[in-house]
Amino acid sequence: MHVLITGGAGFIGANFVHQTLTRHPDATVTVLDKLTYAGNQGSLADLGERVTLVVGDIADTDTVDPLVAGADVVVHFAAESHNDNSLRDPSPFIRTNLVGTFTLLESVRRHRVRFHHVSTDEVYGDLELDDPAKFTPTTPYNPSSPYSSSKAGSDLLVRAWVRSFGVEATISNCSNNYGPYQHVEKFIPRQVTNLIDGVRPRLYGAGQNVRDWIHVLDHNDAVWDIVEKGRTGETYLIGANGEKSNKEVVELICELMGHEPDDYDHVADRPGHDMRYAIDNTKLVEELGWTPRYTDFRSGLQDTIEWYRNNEAWWRPLKAEVEARYAAQGQ
Ligand code: NAD
Ligand code: DAU
Repeated sequence: MHVLITGGAGFIGANFVHQTLTRHPDATVTVLDKLTYAGNQGSLADLGERVTLVVGDIADTDTVDPLVAGADVVVHFAAESHNDNSLRDPSPFIRTNLVGTFTLLESVRRHRVRFHHVSTDEVYGDLELDDPAKFTPTTPYNPSSPYSSSKAGSDLLVRAWVRSFGVEATISNCSNNYGPYQHVEKFIPRQVTNLIDGVRPRLYGAGQNVRDWIHVLDHNDAVWDIVEKGRTGETYLIGANGEKSNKEVVELICELMGHEPDDYDHVADRPGHDMRYAIDNTKLVEELGWTPRYTDFRSGLQDTIEWYRNNEAWWRPLKAEVEARYAAQGQ
C-alpha cells in the first residue's frame, strides 16, 4: 500500500506518519508538505526509505496530480490550523484550506483514489458551558473564525464531490489534540515552553473556555480505523470525553512543572473566542469499534511536558518569533 499524507510535517500529520509505519509494516509513504512556518522536517527525521518528503503546495495541481496518481489512499491533514493566525491574516487559510482541498478532490476524482479528509469540531461552532449537549454528526455547521469557516467550507466541498462525482471519501471532525511535535504557538506547548524559559503562562480572558482534549495518537488511530472501515460519504466525530477548562489545564501544567497552581497571567481574550467544544463519539465507537488508549490526561500531559523538556532543539528555533507575535497583540 502506498499512502499520500498531506501536511505530514505538521503536528498531527507527523505523528500519523510514525504510526502508519508501525501499523502497516508493508506500507510506503509520500508526505506532501509546503513546509510553512508550521511544518518541521525534524519531525520526520530518521524514518528510513519507506518515507519520501515532497516539498510542495496542495493547491498546485502539477505537484499534486502525479502524487495522487501513484497513491492507493490520500490522507489529507495539510491546513493552516491556528485560529489566532486566521484573525491576523485569513488569506492563506482560504488558499490552503479551500483551494488546496479543492485541488486534491479534483485529483482523486480524476484518478479514482480513496480520500480521507481530516477536519475539526470547530465547524459546529460552540456550546454553552451549562449545555448538556455535545456535537454529533448531524449538528448544523456554525463556524466562528476564519480558520473554522475555511475548514467548514472544505468539508462541504468533500461532501459535494462524494455526491456529485462519486468520489470515495470520508471525513473526520476531531477535538483539540495534544502530544509531541505540536507547534509552540498552540496552548499547551506554549505554556510548557514558557515555564521551561522561566516565563509565566498566558491564559486568555478568564480561562473558563472548555476544550475536549484528546491525545494525538488516539486521534490518528481513529483516522486509520475510518480509512480502513469507514463508509464512503460518512462523517465520523473523534473525541475521547476529555472536557477541561483552559484554567484547569494551565493550573495542571503549573503543578506538574513544580510551580504554584496560580503562577500564570491573564491576558487579552481572543476575539470571538468559542466557549466550549464537546464531542459525542458514539458513531465512531459503535460502528468502527475504536477505543481511545490515552485517556489519563494527567499522565498524557506529564509525558508531553517531558517530550518538550527532552526536545528543546526541535522547538527552540520557533519560540522567539511566536512570542513576539503574541506580545504585539497583548497576549
Ligand atoms: P499544523 O499547523 O501543525 O500542520 C499543518 C501542516 O500542513 C504543516 O506541516 C504545514 O507545512 C502544512 N501545510 C500548510 N499549508 C500547506 C499547503 N498549502 N500545502 C502543503 N502543505 C501545507 O496542523 P495540525 O495541528 O497538525 O492539524 C492537521 C489537520 O488536523 C488540520 O487539517 C487541522 O484542521 C486538523 N485538526 C487539528 C486539530 C488540533 O487540535 N490541532 C484538531 C482537529 C483537526
Ligand atoms: O478543536 C479543534 C481545534 O483545536 C483545531 O481545529 C485547531 O487546529 C487547533 O489549533 C485547536 O484550536 P483552539 O483554538 O482550541 O486551540 P489553541 O491551542 O489555539 O487554544 C486552546 C484554548 O486555549 C483556546 O480556548 C484559547 C486558549 N489559549 C490559547 C493560547 C495560545 C490561551 O488561553 N492562551 C494561549 O496562549
